[in-house]
Parts: sequence; C-alpha cells; structure tokens
Amino acid sequence: MAEQAPSKVTMEKLVSLCQRRGFIFPSSEIYGGLSSLWDYGPLGVELKQNVKQAWWRAIVQERDDVVGLDASIMMHPQTWVASGHLQQFADPLVECKRCHLRWRTDEATDNSCPSCGGELTEPHLFNLMFKTFMGPVEEEASVIYLRPETAQGIFVNFQNVLNTTRKRLPFGIAQIGKAFRNEITTGNFIFRSREFEQMELEYFVKPETADEWFDYWVEERRKWYVSLGIKENNLRLREHTKEELAHYARKCYDIDYLFPMGWAELEGIANRGDFDLRQHAQHSGKSLTYLDEETKEHIVPYIIEPSAGVDRSVLAFLCDAYDEEPDKEEIRVLLHLHPTLAPIKVAVLPLSKRENLVQLAKEIYADLRRSWMVQYDDTQSIGRRYRRQDEIGTPFCVTIDFQSLEDNQVTLRERDTMNQIRLPIAELKKTLAAKLAGEPLFVLPPGGQIWKEERKE
Ligand code: GAP
Repeated sequence: MAEQAPSKVTMEKLVSLCQRRGFIFPSSEIYGGLSSLWDYGPLGVELKQNVKQAWWRAIVQERDDVVGLDASIMMHPQTWVASGHLQQFADPLVECKRCHLRWRTDEATDNSCPSCGGELTEPHLFNLMFKTFMGPVEEEASVIYLRPETAQGIFVNFQNVLNTTRKRLPFGIAQIGKAFRNEITTGNFIFRSREFEQMELEYFVKPETADEWFDYWVEERRKWYVSLGIKENNLRLREHTKEELAHYARKCYDIDYLFPMGWAELEGIANRGDFDLRQHAQHSGKSLTYLDEETKEHIVPYIIEPSAGVDRSVLAFLCDAYDEEPDKEEIRVLLHLHPTLAPIKVAVLPLSKRENLVQLAKEIYADLRRSWMVQYDDTQSIGRRYRRQDEIGTPFCVTIDFQSLEDNQVTLRERDTMNQIRLPIAELKKTLAAKLAGEPLFVLPPGGQIWKEERKE
C-alpha cells in the first residue's frame, strides 16, 4: 500500500462530491449514521444499476455459455456447514482492555491497541456471518445466517440449472446480489462495508481444463474494467500466497485497483476445484455430478470463480473518472465516466425560461427520455448548468436557444472536450445514439459546424 495514486482524487473529495450531489449518503444519517453502511442516492443508484447491467450484459446476455440466477439471501443453515463458513469464515480478533476497541490481529502487530496503546486480550476467532432467527421462536434450532457470499446459492442450484437448461461443460451460472459480513474493521467509504453487493460467476469446467479457464477469466475480467474506462496503469494482478488462500481455493488472483489509499482488491478470481460440489453432495446426500457424454463417466466439475464487488467497482469507476481542471478562479470538477456508466446520459438545457423556449426544450426532453436517462434543467446560468453536469459525469448537454426556434437546430456539447456542435433537431437522436455507443466525437452531419466552448483559464 506504499504507492500513492498520482491522480487528483482523494477519498475526502470523493466522499464530499458523493454526498453533495446525491450519489452516496451514510446510512440512517438523521440518527447519526450506522457504521460502515451506505445508502445510494438518486445518482448513485443509477450508476450502480449501470455497473450491474454492464456486468450482466458481458457475462450473461452476450454469451452462450452462461445463465443467470437470483437465489435467496437466507439459505438452509446446513449450507454454511457444508461450505465451511461456519467453521472457517472467521478472523482472529483481539480486544483492548482499556478502550474495548476490537482489532484484527494483523492490525495490532506490536500487541498494543493501535488507538490508545492499551493492553490487548488473547486472540479469539470471530465469525463474520450475521446470525438471525427464522420463525417466532428464538432458539438454537431456528438460527439462520445472512449469506456472506452469493456463490453458495449457485452451488446448491447446480443440478436445477443443469436439468432445466441442458448446458454442457464448460458453462457458468451468474448472480448479482447482496452479501453481508460483520467485518471487524471497515472504512475507506464503500470499499469495505457490512452490507454490500457481489457480482459472481461460477464457471464449471472439466478438471483438466481448469488452469486454461482460470487464465481466460483473469484476462476477461481485467479487460472488462478497461473497456469501461479504467486506466490500465491503475490495475494490477496479484497472486495469493499459500497462507492467504481461502479454505476452498487452490489458486487465486486478485485484480487490484490503485485506490486513493493505495493498491487494494477489486475482484478475486479463484480456482475452487471440486470443493463446493463435493461438500454439498456429501452434506445433502444428493448427487452433484455431471455425466460426460463422451466418456460416459460421472465427473465433479472444477469451478473457476470471478467474484467482483459492485460497491468496490463503483468506487473504482468514480476514483478513475474524477478530474479537476483550472477554470478562471474556479476549478472545473468533472467525472470522465464512460457513457455506459454515467447516471445521466444527456442534459436538456433551455437557454432561458421564456415560454416558447421551454416548450421546445420539453418536447426534446420528452423524446430523448424515451431512450435514455435524461435530465432537464432550466435554473441558473448556462455555464453553471454545464459545470453541474460535468461534476456528475453527464457526457452530453443539449442547449436550446432563441435561434433554435427559427432554424430548428440545437447545440450539442461534449463533457470531456467541451466541444460544441450545432445540428438539426431531426439529427439529434441519431447523433446521440452513435456517440453514446462510442463512435468518434463530432463527425459533422451535413451543414453542421464545430467550435470550442470558451474556457476561462
Ligand atoms: N465468493 C468468493 C468471495 O466472496 P471475496 O474475495 O471474499 O470472495 C469477493 O469477495 C469480492 O467481494 C471482493 O473482491 C470485493 O470486491 C467484494 N467484497 C468482499 N467483502 C466486501 C466488503 N466487506 N465490502 C465491500 N465489498 C466486499
């Protein structure tokens, strides 16, 4: 964690922008907040949905070999016996005898409290799963857990999916959903929280092909972040040491991102071998094998698991997009979010509140919002409105002025370059569709002009 991000973003700036503009709020803020839980506001929920949708498209909808699933958060308690979480999903914990703060042993290396220097208790294991009771009686027999990973919902449905889809190896089952961990140490905004979302793919393969598929998925997943705008230099791959490997993993690579606090895990890709299917078969008494039609043998597939955090991805996309530029005495803050991820794709801005301008602007707004998430804004100066859209990452603004009433043309302004073109309203939707899909900026339509927005350096 020694290396520092060279960009202009700090966690303080990002947290402040997220709260100020309605991306992310502390949970239950009016009661003083609840530690390490976060609520996504109007823009945050759009961004988060877009991240999940982009993952789902790439992993499920654009592939023949992966299907989706949405399993329950609460599962049969035997699941966690079989998976090993009840015995193994624990951190060694020490408590300060003076201030009673609790620490993971790797955080309190010199055997004194990192906060007050007090003496620490002997370490004891602390299970990270949240416990609750099902039904009206709070007794040991009715204890259930909130899932600490979505993966187990996939393993217990392996036969259901196999029987109903007739998929052949290799194939995958993908799921996006909430996971809960009673983390001892949290922090760094949404990086580590107690309630978060995961995007997990369990990819079932013939054991002898596991290494090949492992390498394939590491590269696929790295490329996915890059395709959505993350700078390659801000990503690295790190192999887990033997001591670090989770109890189920034979091999694991982390895709790390250079967050403002340093390099940290964004996603893990693990070779889980046949651990999970064997464990669930043993504990449930059901057969979880696959009939290899060539050899007529029943085999237990190996599992390659790319497991990504939705919230960590959101944080990485925000950090990577954040930028500041001089703008007269002020600073232009902007998010270079990829258009696929940007919460608002287009802002519609009438130059004034004059009735006929507003009417035309509202017509354009109504038309565009049938295709995209669009915002209408007619308050304050046009310069201020552009800056407000820059700060939330809106890739395009459409400005309607008095000339528009006469020539049926509007100004289209691009966030990153501040370039503007004037084009017929009839061309607007087609042009936006092409640009939002990543076509080169501002190939001029016939009769169009291009110019640069005046920058106040
Ligand atoms: N099924 C494998 C698994 O759960 P993990 O490395 O423990 O593996 C996978 O978690 C991903 O889930 C992490 O790479 C991270 O992105 C996300 N994640 C894990 N714990 C988290 C937490 N407390 N807060 C936010 N995201 C978390």
